[in-house]
Amino acid sequence: MEGTGTLAVYPGTFDPLTNGHVSLVKRGCQVFDRVVVAVAASTPKAPMFKLSERVAMARKVFADNPSVEVEPFSGLLVEYARRKEAAVILRGLRAVSDFEYEFQMALMNRHLERSIQTMFLMTDYRWMYISSSIIKEAWRAGGDVRWLVPDPVYRCMMDLGVGD
Ligand code: COA
Repeated sequence: MEGTGTLAVYPGTFDPLTNGHVSLVKRGCQVFDRVVVAVAASTPKAPMFKLSERVAMARKVFADNPSVEVEPFSGLLVEYARRKEAAVILRGLRAVSDFEYEFQMALMNRHLERSIQTMFLMTDYRWMYISSSIIKEAWRAGGDVRWLVPDPVYRCMMDLGVGD
């Protein structure tokens, strides 16, 4: 294991990182010694923010938390997790609708690498209804999303301006 203690990798597209993600990372830190927020370069989604922007925003958000590291990754998640010598892949579950996708992903990752366990935390009820997509949709239409994303993300969205 890299350093000491249990390391969990928290992977995602984070386009952008939301308060729901932040809450999950903080709760992950109560369980694991270190959490690596692993920002996916290759993703089935077409991200609005470049990989470097998604990483930079997340780094700003967790700058004061020494237990959290933010890194980009590409290729297979389990290979990245193996390189990090992570014991756990951490994921959040918001609602039953997340379950099927998460179940498939967890089983595929287990098929690929049996020594890494996927663990789930229930998303805090305050963030049950948000997703990166719904926040982007509201923001593009001029909605106020200030309380749904961390400040550095909000500032970045403001810099981009509303609309495409
Ligand atoms: N609070 C609020 N929203 C949350 C949340 C939480 N706690 N947890 C997840 N979400 C939302 C996100 O905002 C996101 O919304 P969106 O679909 O509108 O973008 C959605 O739930 C899930 O996104 P995210 O957490 O960013 O993960 P992801 O599903 O985009 O990530 C990867 C998928 C990157 C982990 C996966 O594709 C991967 O591992 N890729 C690498 C290649 C690989 O190994 N493939 C085989 C894996 S089976």
